[in-house]
Amino acid sequence: MLFKIVSSLGLLAGAAFAQTPAGFTPSVNKTLDVYYGSTYISPGLMMKKSSVQSKPTIGVTGMELSGKYLLAMIDIDVPSGSARTTVLHALLQDWAPTGQTQNGSSILTTSATGPASYFGPAPPAETPKHPHNYIFLLHEQPASFAVPSSQRQVVQSRMGINWPKFMTDAGLEDPIAGVYLQVQSGDNTKMFVA
Ligand SMILES: *[C@@H]1O[C@H](CO)[C@@H](O)[C@H](O)[C@H]1NC(C)=O
Ligand SMILES: *[C@@H]1O[C@H](CO)[C@@H](O)[C@H](O)[C@H]1NC(C)=O
Repeated sequence: MLFKIVSSLGLLAGAAFAQTPAGFTPSVNKTLDVYYGSTYISPGLMMKKSSVQSKPTIGVTGMELSGKYLLAMIDIDVPSGSARTTVLHALLQDWAPTGQTQNGSSILTTSATGPASYFGPAPPAETPKHPHNYIFLLHEQPASFAVPSSQRQVVQSRMGINWPKFMTDAGLEDPIAGVYLQVQSGDNTKMFVA
């Protein structure tokens, strides 16, 4: 009896499991399909730094998209004194459906390189090791989207972005899909340059 209850709860959780790390806001249940080459990013997959230095292919499964979308990629594990802060690794606008599929995902593309170009993970060494979580969030893009003036400095410097605050200031709805990957601290041969 107990087993039955536990297993049916497990099933429910599996059907709508957060695609973002525990404690991260906004949490997202719908998976963003992210591919680096032919590697599919299941939530939390640990990747080699060298495999994630170019902008990935993104798509969605089981959703009809139209219009334009905004993609953010955020490292939430950047050491800052005894705390952790965030770095914006990409903020790319104007993603639109291509009509093409990869592994069942409806693929989106953009020719935009901003507002913040893709900057590949390069987490610094730490003892003990601390894998960094890189979160991808896909939002519907509001008409005439532009980075609000209150967020220009943080987008330009990339340091310490507060995504819920950005969403409020930019008038974004909750993300429609998300996922995250990890890169181990110390898997780093390229320095971050703001
Ligand atoms: C995600 O799924 C959980 C469990 O079903 C639910 O409580 C939560 O509200 C959902 N979150 C979103 C953003 O849909
Ligand atoms: C295809 O997508 C599924 C999830 O929809 C994933 O589990 C699988 O690893 C992907 N396979 C490839 C080859 O991309």
